[in-house]
Order: sequence, then structure tokens, then C-alpha cells
Amino acid sequence: MDGRRPMLDENIRAYYERRVAEGQRLVQGLGRVEFLRVQELVRRHLPDGPLRILDVGGAAGIHASWLAGDGHAVRLVDPVPLHIEQARRTAAGLDRSFTATLGDARDLPVDDGSVAVVLMFGPLYHLVDETDRMRALAEARRVLAPGGLLFAIGISRFASLFDGLANGMLFDPEFRRIAQRDLVDGQHRNPTDRPGWFATAFFHHPDQLESELTGAGFDVRALYGVQGVAGWLLPVAEHLDDPADLEVVLESARAVESEPSLRGVSPHLLAVASR
Ligand SMILES: C[S@@+](CC[C@H](N)C(=O)[O-])C[C@H]1O[C@@H](n2cnc3c(N)ncnc32)[C@H](O)[C@@H]1O
Repeated sequence: MDGRRPMLDENIRAYYERRVAEGQRLVQGLGRVEFLRVQELVRRHLPDGPLRILDVGGAAGIHASWLAGDGHAVRLVDPVPLHIEQARRTAAGLDRSFTATLGDARDLPVDDGSVAVVLMFGPLYHLVDETDRMRALAEARRVLAPGGLLFAIGISRFASLFDGLANGMLFDPEFRRIAQRDLVDGQHRNPTDRPGWFATAFFHHPDQLESELTGAGFDVRALYGVQGVAGWLLPVAEHLDDPADLEVVLESARAVESEPSLRGVSPHLLAVASR
């Protein structure tokens, strides 16, 4: 890992090495709602560019691509070699490209104060120990210039409950046990080989995502539910090709994005914080 310690949990590495289509996740089905909402929330908060942006846990470059297309200088870091290969292939096909380097959120191969924006869309839910998440947040703070922005995604504590109900897994006692533990302490474990049940992860209560960022010294500017309930409703996917219907779906998420009593309904939570 560029001379640094490889520290990725084996279950997480195996999950992503088997999952060759991680790059497709946000361009299919309800993943499109996540993609469009993350894109609009990030653009809403980005200051005028061009900016130096670090995409930590950027996988195959789904967000790095459009950010580079917007004119920003984007560097992607991910600990999974397959993701770096995929990201470099993606980058090679773009007019406005980005770079990709192997690395871990807890030990970023990046200079102090050298970037204006850090995206952390993955590490905070795959680092299951609070000390590791705090280390990753301290690293984000270290590499950000003063006043720089962190965009951090967490998965909601309630995700397995709603996912299980929407997709039928909750009727399987084995998955129900996993979902029950998630509700108690957020520690998601999938000892089966079913990829749809996800990998080793930690699912945040919305308040906890905010308090971890504050504890790391960030000033939290906003905390959003990304998709709202639209992230769970499978029939919604049929409406996404119609521009008017798509706008209705996105507006349904916007309408409750900051409502504290509903944030946790959303599959993903997005915090925006400044250094
Ligand atoms: C579900 S994918 C999300 C990819 C992309 N950022 C997105 O928003 O679609 C989670 C990503 O987090 C990465 N990841 C897991 N643990 C990490 C760590 N300790 N440091 C950096 N990235 C990590 C994984 O390799 C994977 O690419």
C-alpha cells in the first residue's frame, strides 16, 4: 500500500473483490437516486472551484468522474486493488481525468493541509471500531486546508430493517438476527456468502454521525437523509427514466432531508462539515 500498512478487514476485501460491479451500483435501479442526491448535495455546498478534492473510498470513481468533469483536480484513494484498477480505467476514458492511489482512510498518503475538500463515502461505515473512525476523521482534518470541507456518508442504523422488509430478507430468520443486532449496536456482520447482505460494517444513528464529526474537531454544517424513503421503495425505480417523475422522486427526498425525526429512514446519511 505505497509502503504503508495494509489494514483492510478480510471480509470487506473479499466482498469487494468478488463484487466486480461495484462501479455499476449507482447507475442502476434505486442506486440512481443515491447518486443524484449525493451529487446535488455536494454541489450545493462546494465553493467556487476549481478545487483540490480527495475522494477517500472512491471505488471505481463514480463521484471522482463527475467532479473532475466539473473542473476539479480529483485524487481518489481506496484500499482495494481491484477498485484502483477500475478507477484508473475509468479515468483513462475521460476528457477531464482524475488520479487513483491505493491507500487507507486511517493513513492517507496525502500531505498536510493540501486539499480543499475530502469525500468520505465508504470508510466511515466499513470502520467498525470508533477509534478507527476517529483516526480516519483525524486524517481528513490533517489533509484539509483551513476552512476545507468534509463530506461524510454513513449508513443508517435502521438500514437492514428497511432493506430486509423491502427486499424480503427479513422473512429469513438468519437475516432477521443480523438486522436485530444492527438495531442494538450498529455492528453489521454477514457470516454468510450472500453478497446482498453486505459486508462487515457499522451503521450510524444519525446523532452519532454528527457527534463523531464534532468530536473530531469539525464544525457540522448540515446532516441530511440522502434518499429518504424513496431509497427503499422498489416501484420508484420504474419512474426514474421520466424526467418529470424523477424530479418528483428527488423532491420527496429533499422535502425531508433535514427533518430529524426522518433522517434515519434514509439508507444513507450525508454530513457536511468544515475544518
Ligand atoms: C460501498 S463502496 C462506496 C464507493 C463510492 N465512494 C460510492 O459512494 O459509491 C465503499 C468503499 O469504501 C472503501 N473502503 C472500505 N474501507 C476503507 C478504508 N479503511 N479506507 C478507505 N476506503 C475504504 C471500499 O474499498 C469501497 O470502495
